[in-house]
Amino acid sequence: FIPDSLLNYLNVFGNMDKEKRDLYLIVIVFLAFLFLVTEILLLKKNNYEKKKVQLPPTVPYLIPFIGSAVQFGIDPVKFLQEQKKKFGDCFTFKMLGRNMTFCLGSEGNNFVFNVKLKDATAEGAYLKLTRPVFGTEVVYDVENSVFMEQKKFVKDALSTAAFKTYLPTIIQETKQMFMKEFEKSEFTVELFPVLAELTIRTASSCLMGKEIRDQLHSNVAKLFHDLDCGLTPLNVFVEYLPLPRFINRDRANKELTELFLEIIKKRKLLENDPNVKYEKKFDVLESLMNSDYKSGSKMSDVAVSHMMIALLMAGQHTSSTTGSWFLFELAKNPELQKKIREEHSMILTGKTDTPKKDLPDLTFETLKQCTFLDNCLKETLRIHPPIHTVMRLVEQDLNYNGLTIPKGNFLCSGITVGHLDEVKYPDPLKFDPSRHVLLEESGEWTIGNVDIQQKSARNLYLPFGAGRHRCIGEHFAFIQLKTIVATIVNEFDLELVDNKFPEIDYTQLIVLPVKGSLLRFKRRT
Ligand code: HEM
Repeated sequence: FIPDSLLNYLNVFGNMDKEKRDLYLIVIVFLAFLFLVTEILLLKKNNYEKKKVQLPPTVPYLIPFIGSAVQFGIDPVKFLQEQKKKFGDCFTFKMLGRNMTFCLGSEGNNFVFNVKLKDATAEGAYLKLTRPVFGTEVVYDVENSVFMEQKKFVKDALSTAAFKTYLPTIIQETKQMFMKEFEKSEFTVELFPVLAELTIRTASSCLMGKEIRDQLHSNVAKLFHDLDCGLTPLNVFVEYLPLPRFINRDRANKELTELFLEIIKKRKLLENDPNVKYEKKFDVLESLMNSDYKSGSKMSDVAVSHMMIALLMAGQHTSSTTGSWFLFELAKNPELQKKIREEHSMILTGKTDTPKKDLPDLTFETLKQCTFLDNCLKETLRIHPPIHTVMRLVEQDLNYNGLTIPKGNFLCSGITVGHLDEVKYPDPLKFDPSRHVLLEESGEWTIGNVDIQQKSARNLYLPFGAGRHRCIGEHFAFIQLKTIVATIVNEFDLELVDNKFPEIDYTQLIVLPVKGSLLRFKRRT
């Protein structure tokens, strides 16, 4: 009686034969039942009623333990928008035995993103998901203060000097991917896998170092894929099950760590060899190897390796899905493609209609001037933010506007709901880059004259989050995506196939276009 949609959403069984799958299901249902009985009868004598505190309104549900998991899993944005209409900006719903409390709106965003460490933690919410994929000694597997230092090491590495060296690499990787591999004058591809491949090539060339990029064609790509399979919504709740995808994930982490350890060893040998002139590298690996904690100690080689895996995983799907939505939006509206080309040509040559063969390559400085392109990317991230929900685990009872959010709940912010707010962004699904205008005089970003200074957690526009857990890959992602898109748009006219704009797939952790979403490329002559 478990609906197929739920099985698809959980997406753990792959192609397992039906008998084996049913056996697993029976065990899971039995455990869930046991969990429920224990929860209700033995463990949780719900004190909150006795305490006479007011809890956030609860979304009603039919199936215990499962709660609203299916509705949320199929379309979280629609589900949250509906509950917001019924219950207001703060409500709780049940999902796989957990209570998920959402605080929406600008006040809700500020509450979630700036919640104090002693009150709610990201590690409590994400550790089960991230530790097996990234590895130990990094991110949520260490004290938050240590992770903050690790973030700073990466931020320092992503300097302007480094970005300047990355840009030609990204252009070269893009040209190689599109111009060499697809030599026809017109071709149609399933876009997301192509962009995923391009993202991994550019990110590994720039961040991981040449050694990893050179090995991408071998089993490294397979290892990344196996790690990736460990990043599903189910992994937020379950760290390990004796299933192939969990076993492959753990093996991939081990093998990839060993690969990085080998590279680090070789680099150290070269660095210390008096007979070799060591060439300074601008990749993040090099920078992490040479960073010191405040205590004076260095990151261990294992920690450096795990941090590299974490960065690649954090940036992979977020960037590739954003790039895909960006190109789909441009394909829907050829006028946008034209404007991007005109801006590109104007900045590089002072005229809007220079033929593409006469255009020099973009540089870090010229890319920065492409503000229309920038606004298109911002608008893509408004309508299609890859992360629709961020979570923290409540460590002690919280008070939010007189409501008590109990310890053990997940405290959540719905990024996409804010981005599609009808009052702030009239006609919210309309792709309109002119919503993002830099007011030269004030130096502030505005949307329809509303301050959206991105660093404030009170914002409704937070594609990269806010507060202590804010993204450190934003600048790299902007450079990577703007360069890729500018290079492609300059070379090709983009068209939707049968005028079909892709549906959204919410079954993965990151919001993707549904499988099989096609885009047509026509070489410009
Ligand atoms: C955190 C979005 C690219 C590394 C975050 C968060 C968001 C986000 C929303 C906050 C999560 C939370 O508060 O729980 C994005 C988007 C990207 C992108 C939309 C691209 C379009 C990248 C890249 C990297 C990266 C390329 C690495 C180079 C990180 C890291 C964190 C983070 C290390 C910090 C997590 C923490 O402090 O808990 N990102 N990201 N991201 N992101 Fe990104």
